[in-house]
Amino acid sequence: MKVSLIVAMERNGVIGRDGGLPWHLSADLKRFKQLTMGHHIIMGRKTFESIGRLLPGRTSVIVTRQQEYVASGAVIAHSLSDALAAAEGDDEVFIIGGAEIYRQAINSIDRIYLTDVAANVSGDARFPEFDRSDWSIVEQSAHPADDRNDHPHTFTVLERIR
Ligand SMILES: NC(=O)c1ccc[n+]([C@@H]2O[C@H](COP(=O)([O-])OP(=O)(O)OC[C@H]3O[C@@H](n4cnc5c(N)ncnc54)[C@H](OP(=O)(O)O)[C@@H]3O)[C@@H](O)[C@H]2O)c1
Repeated sequence: MKVSLIVAMERNGVIGRDGGLPWHLSADLKRFKQLTMGHHIIMGRKTFESIGRLLPGRTSVIVTRQQEYVASGAVIAHSLSDALAAAEGDDEVFIIGGAEIYRQAINSIDRIYLTDVAANVSGDARFPEFDRSDWSIVEQSAHPADDRNDHPHTFTVLERIR
């Protein structure tokens, strides 16, 4: 099973503000949907509550320390390793955030689907520092801002150099 991480971040690593996303990028949401459809998606409890619903066509695995936490239609896991075990059998599993989950996952993932957002925005959730020299770019495409996308953005696929 390939373990992938998917994230959109601005120039300084900001990924979120006040529990939500600090931008609207329609193309990024569309790409997220295309990539994750049919797969397990692993997320922190805060990200699940910020999305506010189950994403159709995917198996949501929610990570929480709350033993009594329930979310109808989702799988509940109490650690990242339990979440990954719940996805066993899938050919690719996606870690979809947020910051706390990314921090725990960054050293054990195989692939990053990164959206670099060409903006400087303030926020309270950041992606962990990671050394891009450990990664090779296998795909990249740049896109301008338009009426459906707040900022120019670049989609990059990174594979860990073994
Ligand atoms: N730009 C992007 O691509 C992107 C993607 C996703 C999210 N975001 C943003 O990121 C922000 C949310 O990130 P966040 O760091 O605040 O929260 P988060 O990572 O989504 O969730 C944190 C929660 O996950 C649970 N958790 C974390 N580690 C755990 C472990 N080892 N074992 C069991 N449970 C664990 C805990 O839940 P309990 O408190 O229930 O125990 C913790 O409070 C939002 O602003 C969101 O919009 C951005």
